[in-house]
Parts: sequence; structure tokens; C-alpha cells
Amino acid sequence: MKARFTTYARRRALKSIGFAVAVLATAGGRSPPASAQAQGMRLAPTPRDAEGPFYPRTFPADVDADLTRVAGRPGVARGTPLLLSGTVVSTAGTPLAGATLELWQCDANGTYHHVGATGPQDEDFQGYGRAVADASGAWAFRTIRPVPYGGRPPHLHFRISHPRARALTTQLYVKGESAEAGMGGYFSRERDRLEIVLVPMRDGRDAGALAASYTFVLESA
Ligand SMILES: [Fe+2]
Repeated sequence: MKARFTTYARRRALKSIGFAVAVLATAGGRSPPASAQAQGMRLAPTPRDAEGPFYPRTFPADVDADLTRVAGRPGVARGTPLLLSGTVVSTAGTPLAGATLELWQCDANGTYHHVGATGPQDEDFQGYGRAVADASGAWAFRTIRPVPYGGRPPHLHFRISHPRARALTTQLYVKGESAEAGMGGYFSRERDRLEIVLVPMRDGRDAGALAASYTFVLESA
């Protein structure tokens, strides 16, 4: 059931997908614009980016927020685990509680799990997942560090929706690896606003994993 996450439920959810919440508080990336509302500021909406051809035509049975494990399979996805978290807010800085975030990306082989994709598939990678923002607009995914494929830099596809906001389709890139070559401007040129900073996790059971955070800003509907 897709009930809104309470803070307690979110902590449990974060734990269940392997997050060390205290570590994330110090992870790199963009900080939530907590004071924007109080100061009457308007935040710039997150830039849009191309949806690309691999948004699912049919959804897998398992669509939870942990893309590194597929329900019913004992294995773990290949690739470097990435603990990705953040918030969703309006341009006024108001948390958009209950926002639905969809994430899809290729596996460690550079293959999308899509009817239109070719190439070897890592069957232990989920390929697509959803998360629901909690009362403070916070969300979290466990996935793998994106890899380059087909001439494109590593990227993560997102679609974010909320009843009071315009749906946002965009992509996140890895800082330092976001340059596009030969795509004729098809994808967003505002890379500097769509980058995540990867921070190594040094202790706990996620030692060796990476963490990153990002704040999505949605325009009003
Ligand atoms: Fe893509």
C-alpha cells in the first residue's frame, strides 16, 4: 500500500534499503532549500531533460525503491551500490509530501531492462523503481552507480509527480562525468544543475558503497 511515509516509517524504510541516515546527513550534493519559504524566495525549477526511449512499457513485478535486489531472486545486482536520497519541494520551498518518484537506468552491463533494449542483462538488477516522498518531502533509493553506455555519460532517469505540481521528467548526472559528446543538444545543457556528487561510504555494512543527494524543485500545476 502506498501510504505516505511517516518519519518513523521512513527511517525504517531507509534502514531496510541499507541507509546509514547519520552518514547521509554529511554526504555531498545539494542541500535542501529549507529557508526559501521563510524568506519568500522562489527556487528555480529543476531543469527538464529528455525521457529517452527506455521508460518501461510494462512494469516489473518488483517496483520498490531498492533496485539492487529483485524480489524472489537471491542475487544482488552487479555494480557499485549507490545510496541516493533527497527531497522534493515546490518553487516556494514547500515539501511535496506524497510525491511519487520513478527511477530507471541501465544495469552494470549498460543494458536497459526494456523490450526495446539489446545486450546482456543483469537479471538481479531491478532496472526501475518507485519511492514516495514522506511528510518532509524526503525520498531514498538504493541502486547502482550509473555507467556510461552508447556514447552517453552515466545518468539516472527520473519522473516525479505530485497532484499540485507539474510532472517533471529529467536525468541526473555524475559530477565530473557529465559531458555529452555528439548528441546534437538533444539532452539538457544545464548539467551543472543536474549533477550529483558521489561520496564514498567508509564504514558500516555499506562500506564501499557510494552516497549522493539531490533536491528536486517542481513547478506548480
Ligand atoms: Fe538513458
